[in-house]
Amino acid sequence: MNKHNRRVRIVLWATSAVLVLCASCGTRQNRQTRTPNIESVIPVPVQTENFEVPVSKEIRPLVLNRHTAIVCTDSTFAPVAEYLARKVRTATGYELKIADRLPDEGRNYILLTRTDSVAQGEGYRLVSSPDETVCIAAQAPAGAFYGVQTLLQLLPPEIESPVKVKDVAWELPVGVIDDYPRFKYRGVHFDPSRHFAGVEFIKKQLDVLAMFKINRFHWHLTDDQLWTIEIKKYPELTAKGAVRTEGDGSTHRGFYTQDEIREVVAYAAARYIDVIPEIEMPGHAKAALVSHPELSCTGGPFEQPRVIWGVEDDVFCPGKDTTFAFLENVLTEVFDLFPSEYIHIGGDECPKVRWKACPDCQRRIREQGLDKKAGHVGKDGRKHTAEELLQSYTITRMEQFANAHGRKIIGWDEILEGGLAPSATVMSWRGEAGGIAAARQQHDVIMTPNSAGFYIDHQQGAAEVEPVSIGGYSTLEKVYSYNPVPDSAAADWGRYIIGVQANLWSEYVLSDAHREYMYYPRVLALAEVDWSPNDRKDWASFQRRLVDAERRLDYHGINYHIPMPEGTLVDLLAFTGDSVAVPFSNTRNLPMVYTLDGSEPTAASAVYRDTLMIGGEAPVVIRIATLTPQGKLSPSRSIRVERQLLKPAAEPAAVDSGVVMRVAEGLFLTDEQIAGARFGADTVVRYFRPGYEAGTKTAPESLVVYEGFVELPEDGVYGFTTDMEELWIDGERIVKNGQEAASRHLRHKTTRALAAGKHAFRLVFNNMIRHGWPDVWNDISFFVKTPSGTVYERVKASQLTHAVSVDE
Ligand code: ACM
Ligand code: ZN
Repeated sequence: MNKHNRRVRIVLWATSAVLVLCASCGTRQNRQTRTPNIESVIPVPVQTENFEVPVSKEIRPLVLNRHTAIVCTDSTFAPVAEYLARKVRTATGYELKIADRLPDEGRNYILLTRTDSVAQGEGYRLVSSPDETVCIAAQAPAGAFYGVQTLLQLLPPEIESPVKVKDVAWELPVGVIDDYPRFKYRGVHFDPSRHFAGVEFIKKQLDVLAMFKINRFHWHLTDDQLWTIEIKKYPELTAKGAVRTEGDGSTHRGFYTQDEIREVVAYAAARYIDVIPEIEMPGHAKAALVSHPELSCTGGPFEQPRVIWGVEDDVFCPGKDTTFAFLENVLTEVFDLFPSEYIHIGGDECPKVRWKACPDCQRRIREQGLDKKAGHVGKDGRKHTAEELLQSYTITRMEQFANAHGRKIIGWDEILEGGLAPSATVMSWRGEAGGIAAARQQHDVIMTPNSAGFYIDHQQGAAEVEPVSIGGYSTLEKVYSYNPVPDSAAADWGRYIIGVQANLWSEYVLSDAHREYMYYPRVLALAEVDWSPNDRKDWASFQRRLVDAERRLDYHGINYHIPMPEGTLVDLLAFTGDSVAVPFSNTRNLPMVYTLDGSEPTAASAVYRDTLMIGGEAPVVIRIATLTPQGKLSPSRSIRVERQLLKPAAEPAAVDSGVVMRVAEGLFLTDEQIAGARFGADTVVRYFRPGYEAGTKTAPESLVVYEGFVELPEDGVYGFTTDMEELWIDGERIVKNGQEAASRHLRHKTTRALAAGKHAFRLVFNNMIRHGWPDVWNDISFFVKTPSGTVYERVKASQLTHAVSVDE
């Protein structure tokens, strides 16, 4: 329930243009001020003010009840009024009437009114007065909608409930908010082309994005790995391009029918969100080429969409007119489905190897004189190859087509290569340099810099404790602290920065719940970067406001990220002395709770205050989780802390350099299959290598076991890790990465107390494509941290031996 914060703050009444519209506003003598409880709004508004009323006057905030009226004086605001009525009805059960004039009693209403005195189309002024009225004034419906979103955030979090909640006082704090966005483009990106997610998931996200005033939904519909948009003229695109057989033999599929797309676009529009489709060209096109190999340089055939992540060399052939006819036909259907001013045509990561060897591409290069321009300094001050100029030709040609249909194009920053298409908007992803270069050329730019945290496929904490990700590091605080336009650039290139977007690529995002885990709460930080003036941002304040916002997310069933306990990153911590220090921390300095008896921690468990000191003979299992202020726990971690005697070294009678390798061909998906593998003959190899001859990056699938001894230099506690399937030391399996995830980031770390000398090891390499990642791309090795060392180092060939029989 809202309680007024009674801290007194004197704020002078500022511009009051809207007051005339609100019949009942405060007077100016004998002021007493109340600080409105408007501290919880995300993104933080441009300006919030106290409401000043005479001391003698009783403060009566509006408390919603079944008689509250929504007054809408402008028919263009009617959809916003209806949206508000629907939200209120759902959570409170009140069927609020929508009237077109103020009620006679002059109180208990929410007025939505149009005025030209509010700065921008998306801006609004919200006056919550002390005599039971609220007025939201805006120039345009979008502004009224954002005023309503702020109003909803001023109500108790239960207002987001999907079912009626009883016994809530639906009280609004009094105060005045003047607000408008810093940037016109406030975007979130969604990638169903690696892992698919359906329409219900998207609609759920659109509901939430609207709460935080996000206004663009970038829908990455096509890529090498799936083509996910139905095109009526080319039904084979989805018949063949929207399904792939994964490395483990399972099938992944999904696409959106045109009816579903219309449904999403309409749903988004009702929330003032533009849906921007992305149709990738000329690269990232493998899924399209499966059904239309004639549009490639080589003609194919292509069996299926790309099964591993990364970039395909086979791309659209811009040497062929049929390619342009195809792309134009596709875009014609896209224009019909998406009313957005922008159409994203990709343009990123297009390898040029096929174009170099393609007679059609080379003919196009000559016809267009690109060979003559190649190697000379262009308008952008750089030299380009003929193939880079062909990329620019392709983008420019498609831009002209889009422009002729009244649309603007967006492309990734690679579209700078070879010269920008004349009116293209650049999406700067490889850091900010491309964006700044484009802005200096007076092109609009959307900043999505991976380096600044806006690749939210990057992990939000230590790799050891977060789910497997593509890598990178993007904490909430990193996202929050970004300022795309420093003051020094504001009048210069800064004018061309139209907004910031967070991108969630889904290679390593296998489920809807995991998608939400990656989006939230980072998208809320993005919202504040995009909407709020930089000098209104405050990390400490944002974290406080986040508590309330996450309660709202709970009502939407959003699986947001809670930082995991870090500090100690191993799953087993061995020690040899009397005791060992076990420190914990997390990326947001939130409280942590733990148990030492093996039970799952709860909100009532012991609070972690300082480094734990664990001693004694009996092993202790620490279970620890992060606890949010709203009382939610992160997943718990379990760390076994164990006093160990040094395991003695092995004393083989005779050894030789190298390790024993054994190969079992086939696909091994379960522990039982691995345990039952039938291996071929032993061979001895000097160092770990695949069980087949080099030269191919992927198959044939096989399970490879290496055995031998590893020489350890000193007595003490060693750390171990590997990206391989399993690592065994002295007959104990100490690392198991398993099938749950692509095992690529040395995630699982552990320790053991070992004496100096030789220790038996067994390394298991599962050579298959797991969740789009070939294990052979990992370092086929294991890594050791010595007792006196600080880093995990790859074992050296000189440390490895295997036993040999002693000749008579
Ligand atoms: C991108 O990440 N290739 C835009
Ligand atoms: Zn070609």
